[in-house]
Amino acid sequence: MGLENNSQKLLSKIATNNKHGENSPYFDGWKAYESNPFHPTKNPQGVIQMGLAENQLCFDLIEEWIKNNPKASICTPEGVNQFRHIANFQDYHGLPEFKNAVANLMSKVRGGRVRFDPDRLLMSGGATGANELIMFCLADPGDAFLVPSPYYPAFVRDLCWRTGLQLIPVQCHSSNNFMITREALEEAHKKAQDENINVKGLIITNPSNPLGTTIEKETLKSIVSFINENNIHLVCDEIYSGTFYDTPKFVSVSEIIQEMEDIKEDSIHTTYSLPKDLGLPGFRVGFVYSSTDEDVDCRTKNSSFGLLRRETQIFLLQILYDGKTQERFLRAVQKRLALRREVFTKGTPKVGIKCSQSYGGLLVCMHLSLKEKTVEGENDCRVIVHEVTIIVLPGVSFHCSEPGWYRVCFANMDEETVEIALMRIRAFVNGREKGVKKVEMKRWKSNLRLSFSSRRFEENVMSPHSPIPHSPLVRAT
Ligand SMILES: Cc1ncc(COP(=O)(O)O)c(C=O)c1O
Repeated sequence: MGLENNSQKLLSKIATNNKHGENSPYFDGWKAYESNPFHPTKNPQGVIQMGLAENQLCFDLIEEWIKNNPKASICTPEGVNQFRHIANFQDYHGLPEFKNAVANLMSKVRGGRVRFDPDRLLMSGGATGANELIMFCLADPGDAFLVPSPYYPAFVRDLCWRTGLQLIPVQCHSSNNFMITREALEEAHKKAQDENINVKGLIITNPSNPLGTTIEKETLKSIVSFINENNIHLVCDEIYSGTFYDTPKFVSVSEIIQEMEDIKEDSIHTTYSLPKDLGLPGFRVGFVYSSTDEDVDCRTKNSSFGLLRRETQIFLLQILYDGKTQERFLRAVQKRLALRREVFTKGTPKVGIKCSQSYGGLLVCMHLSLKEKTVEGENDCRVIVHEVTIIVLPGVSFHCSEPGWYRVCFANMDEETVEIALMRIRAFVNGREKGVKKVEMKRWKSNLRLSFSSRRFEENVMSPHSPIPHSPLVRAT
């Protein structure tokens, strides 16, 4: 206790404020998974991690590509001659060939309907870095951004923690599949103005995290008109753009810019990354696309803190260089995600669970009609983690104003594990309906279908380790 107080005094107020969110349900799930991870044979009662938005469905394709392209790695005789080029100092503009390949990929993901200028593409450490970078360049401490709720749980960390920005929710509702309406935007904006808060912009995710929904063209147009009329910025987080698998198809704000007249293009900004589309979160690759020279200049200087390793740029360049490989990976991702969404959502109505109508992304939101009808009571994820050892994110962590919604990722495990997870969810809901206080583990343990080999599970399915740092001092005791 004494040590804690002392070290707190030694650290800055910004670094130690609670906006990282480590003490939230979002990270509670991580901790529970870390201490008891599911394994089909070694720990069949362990925790299944459905709280992490990660795409593990295409590892096999990338691995096959790596085997066929030994020159992509500096640790092979074929690739070692790239070592010096990689080890040398790099400036913050990045490799032009790499940015060119990413600009082509962004265009392909948008059906070739828009072109991107590689010189306007800035690199950052993942989409986390991209979103922080853009907020740092657009807003001063105390300024606000509007954000449609429910929204990505880590936005408070990414957008507010170090910038001093605040988020103002725009309330969306399940009655229209959480669509963003002009009325809701105006209401949130007016409320902020009444409170003398300086609103600098609106940030949206399209496709949405947590819902997996895509924003329809007319809605996007109305959003663009809204930000223009109010002279504020629009940041579009389009990191799931390559993952849409159903109609209505994903429409990017860059297409809207082309179609609408008299809009202030310089107030519209896009963030993009490769991890969700290609399943590479560990590569930490993110981008900001800017429309003016002034923006490019300001963001390039600021991107010094999150440069992308040259080795990563060269490796990904080789994968993305060939348009046919890009196409093959994207189609495979979309097809596999569509199948996986179907497996999950077909398994839920049996116990009366309804899911948000998702069209893209790695996620879906399910609604559990439990008895407790408050956001605090019903959205307590600890209940699900402890009773049936499964992590799903409660609505309170993604700022949903309606009780009962839980975010589920269906792409970070294999199909058999999804089926076991569904079984556990059904057991939980059935138990609650019958008034059972705590679901007995043995009720579903005996039904586990362990048709898959544990080796395959280890290779493909084990979720990565928690992002929460562990102190080696604590571990040693
Ligand atoms: C909407 C959204 N933005 C940003 C991020 C952060 O992405 P990255 O892992 O590339 O930093 C995520 C990750 O889940 C996300 O869902």
